[in-house]
Amino acid sequence: MKSLKIGICGWGNVATGLFNTIKLNYESIQSNGNLDIEIVVIGARRDNPKCNPGEVKIERNIFDVIDHEIDVVVELIGGVEVARELILKAIKNKKHVVTANKAVIFHHGDEIFKEAAKNGVKVLFESSVCAGTPIIKLLTEELAANKVTKIAGMLNGTSNFILSNMEEGAEFSSTLHLAQKEGYAEPDPTFDIEGTDAAHKIGILSSLAFGTSLPPEDFYIEGISKIEKIDFKYAMEIGYTIKHLAVAKFNNGIYELRAHPVLISDSSYLANLKSVRNGIEIETDLLGTLHIAGSGAGQESTASGVISDLVYLANSNESISKNKITTKKIEFIDFLDLTFKYYFCIEAEDLPGVMTSISSIFSENKVGIDSIVQKEELPDNVVPIVIITDSFNERNHRELLNNILNLDSVKNVRSIRIETD
Ligand SMILES: NC(=O)c1ccc[n+]([C@@H]2O[C@H](COP(=O)([O-])OP(=O)(O)OC[C@H]3O[C@@H](n4cnc5c(N)ncnc54)[C@H](OP(=O)(O)O)[C@@H]3O)[C@@H](O)[C@H]2O)c1
Repeated sequence: MKSLKIGICGWGNVATGLFNTIKLNYESIQSNGNLDIEIVVIGARRDNPKCNPGEVKIERNIFDVIDHEIDVVVELIGGVEVARELILKAIKNKKHVVTANKAVIFHHGDEIFKEAAKNGVKVLFESSVCAGTPIIKLLTEELAANKVTKIAGMLNGTSNFILSNMEEGAEFSSTLHLAQKEGYAEPDPTFDIEGTDAAHKIGILSSLAFGTSLPPEDFYIEGISKIEKIDFKYAMEIGYTIKHLAVAKFNNGIYELRAHPVLISDSSYLANLKSVRNGIEIETDLLGTLHIAGSGAGQESTASGVISDLVYLANSNESISKNKITTKKIEFIDFLDLTFKYYFCIEAEDLPGVMTSISSIFSENKVGIDSIVQKEELPDNVVPIVIITDSFNERNHRELLNNILNLDSVKNVRSIRIETD
């Protein structure tokens, strides 16, 4: 039986979940994972009334955890700069690191991995993407023989919870409050609803699949806060639903990275994953398309991912770091050069000739219309016009949006890209 002495830094939601899971599932970790985990020390700047650490030594300064006789520092404090400092210090002191922190890996991954290689230790981060749902080792180990061409996923549970509820007729703001009440969303939900959290995760997956850097160069990120519940009704009438999708793609020598809302076919695999579930679709040359879904947040799920890293560490024979270090600069295609079909919902004054003036703006911008439907009138003499376009590029999309908004009769316009492949 292998054994590992660990120090846990942070004493919040995930850390206490890990502590409890190691106690509760001690025997199955031993029998399934061939591992005896000893928690030697916890770095907690204050007590957590929800969890009693028993006899385990507590350090009030998390950096003091590193000075103990431990094999692994488990970083569960979150955030970027202090976490980076802590991880680098642990590495320089020849401790392996396990972290659930997507933000620090996204922003400082390459620096951290280089330092780990230099010091002959490993940095593992399975639960940083989709918590315990196994995606990191799937990409790096199980799919090692494959060429991955696309990863597309709903990587933020809060966004999926909100969008699934809006699909059932709820308003954005009331659903966001419900997500906060249920503990799915942070008191400050900006990272979730503005797409940053999903962007961190797809940046990490892209680095594993395609060798792009951490941090990656700038890429397009858009959240879900501008979507309205009526958009679901209009989308569903034509066989689509709305999801927040993060995409990393390599096609014909072009790398693509983006995270934004999309209309996707309501019969697709990802469309049918509701509530807080995370789901990922991976396109490969040998296995074809692979789907994985599971809980992307929560104490138990994240503890499961952290423990899988500990089991891997203990049972791996190699002494060298397996972290992928970017050696060449890979550039992404400019988002403005990508082409999509688009859904437009244009709210205009119900005046004679309004449909004609709107459709002529599309033809002046050389954008083909696949369908155009005037919907039931809204209050204040406003009529929604829903348009599905042919494919055209993002640069023209921005110009077209401005031109539509410049029409006197137009009160509001929303557009959402359609994910077709
Ligand atoms: N929650 C999830 O479902 C989930 C899922 C996947 C990954 N993760 C990741 O897991 C990590 C931890 O998340 P969490 O939900 O457990 O957060 P949390 O409940 O807010 O806990 C964070 C803990 O770290 C401590 N801490 C923060 N900054 C510190 C500092 N500068 N010095 C010392 N202690 C510090 C906090 O202490 P105080 O209480 O004193 O502030 C708290 O004990 C994050 O990186 C998160 O992204 C979480």
